[in-house]
Amino acid sequence: MENQLFLGENLEILQKFIQNNSIDLVYIDPPFNSNRNYNSIDTKNQAFSDIWKWNNDSETEFLNILNQPHFSDETKLLIQSFEKFLKKSNLFAYLVSLTLRINEIFRILKPTGSLFLHCNPTASHYLKLILDAIFCCNSGTFRNEIIWGYRTGGISKQWFARKHDIILFYAKTAKPIFHQQNYLSPQKYKYGFGKKHHYELIEKNGQYFKNSVCRDIWDDIDSIGTLGRKNDVRNGYPTQKPENLLERIIKSASNEKSLILDAYCGSGTTLIVAAKLNRNFIGIDNSETAIYTSQKRLTDAKIEYKLMK
Ligand SMILES: C[S@@+](CC[C@H](N)C(=O)[O-])C[C@H]1O[C@@H](n2cnc3c(N)ncnc32)[C@H](O)[C@@H]1O
Repeated sequence: MENQLFLGENLEILQKFIQNNSIDLVYIDPPFNSNRNYNSIDTKNQAFSDIWKWNNDSETEFLNILNQPHFSDETKLLIQSFEKFLKKSNLFAYLVSLTLRINEIFRILKPTGSLFLHCNPTASHYLKLILDAIFCCNSGTFRNEIIWGYRTGGISKQWFARKHDIILFYAKTAKPIFHQQNYLSPQKYKYGFGKKHHYELIEKNGQYFKNSVCRDIWDDIDSIGTLGRKNDVRNGYPTQKPENLLERIIKSASNEKSLILDAYCGSGTTLIVAAKLNRNFIGIDNSETAIYTSQKRLTDAKIEYKLMK
């Protein structure tokens, strides 16, 4: 299978080009409904917009969900309830857009496949309901709500510093591919380990780490600070995610040669990590800046792919 990178609207590409039951793992990191635009850190050109307005397109998408047979009764009911609660608001426009795309993602996953949806507390509680309606009211299962905690970014004087994202992990059936991952926590001392303890002690460059099974709280992966220009892994795309975050997800829910899809691929982090781990990939983004950045990263890493327009 040839790696593919699509420039275009993800709903259209999923519907036109991606077959039923064909993808092992989908990771998506869509806009979070943050009500702002994101610019390229280097050129200052707009990379993408995360401002949502209820408009004619939202109305059409909403009616599509209500009238098309490939949406389940539960999904229709949920969307009608959201409309009553949220009215034709900007948040509702965002949720309608995500519902259409998650429904397509459910269709394209293999029975052993999983979706990891990256979001934050702005809308995670609504997205979880949408995922429950699309996945759990069909053959799917909820697996984890992963908390990714980090320390970068600003703080407010009015509330506790908001320092976590949420990654919702759902599988298409009760038997998805899953490989347990390890979690290393730094230890001050070498004591308290031995046969009676079920943790392993690892020494790396004179520092001790406790090696245990990874929980659903991930606080060992740093985010990519948008301010730190000296950070040599930063590619200039706003909202770039760290490679080791994707590495944990891809290793846990796919095998070598698996096909991984990212429908909001941005600067291509998922694609790069998939290729490094001997997986195949499909990336989609409707921003030219995103596709340009992904292409540059893939070319620099000597990873072969076909650009689809
Ligand atoms: C949060 S960024 C993804 C960042 C990415 N995870 C990375 O590490 O660089 C979200 C991306 O979704 C893209 N996007 C938003 N709506 C889209 C749509 N309808 N179709 C395709 N791409 C879309 C944006 O252009 C943006 O690049």
